[in-house]
Amino acid sequence: MTTALVRDIADSIGSCELTHLDRAPIDLGRARQQHEDYGRTLEALGCTLQRIDADPNCPDCVFIEDTLVVVDELAVLTRPGAPSRRAELSPVEAAVAHHREVARIESPGTLDGGDVLRIGHRVLVGASGRTNASGIEQLRSHLRPHGYTVEAVTFTGCLHLKSACTLAAPDRVLVNPTWVEPADLGTSVIEVDPTEPGAGNVLLVNGTLLADPAFPRTIERLQAEGIEPRLVPNDELAKAEAALTCCSVLLD
Ligand code: GLY
Repeated sequence: MTTALVRDIADSIGSCELTHLDRAPIDLGRARQQHEDYGRTLEALGCTLQRIDADPNCPDCVFIEDTLVVVDELAVLTRPGAPSRRAELSPVEAAVAHHREVARIESPGTLDGGDVLRIGHRVLVGASGRTNASGIEQLRSHLRPHGYTVEAVTFTGCLHLKSACTLAAPDRVLVNPTWVEPADLGTSVIEVDPTEPGAGNVLLVNGTLLADPAFPRTIERLQAEGIEPRLVPNDELAKAEAALTCCSVLLD
């Protein structure tokens, strides 16, 4: 059984962090409806949802992925690179402590979970504006005893490594090759359609791939490779510079 940690959307999400996007009004009702549908899809795919209340003082708290890196043996509580996001941690720690031993990224390290792409026992970490060398080294120290290798990857043009590339299948990565060099991923890839740069974020849940229908040409590319994604609209939260992986942490 998979547990999916999810967090409600704060009323203050309109004040979220933005790095590469201009601010656009977020329709809170629509965002909440899409987030509800996302949760129902996770449940339909065999996940038990563990919901954490929103914190009105944390506009980005719905993007729970950034606060945790979880493997079978351990959860690593991150230290988000945006100072405004560091107050998100304590209820997340309380929730995950029911499931895993918890380790922490400490100052001066910073790490956003959105920069962490795990492919089996390889853990690729984007060196970004949010994740620094100390954060990567601390993650390496926490995971190495459990048999994981941590590799730093550079990228440009987007917020997080997983804005550019995510798992489309256990051994294949969907990638925007203009944001991250496919050869650096060391695995088989499918490239997003060049007209859909933000399409690289998909979410694999118990063997089913979730994709945002905002990217139809990339979905056709996945279908041509024999992958039939389940479509989950996320265009409202996309205005907050977020995508499908951002809104959950899956614990198998
Ligand atoms: N708004 C998502 C983030 O910047 O962390």
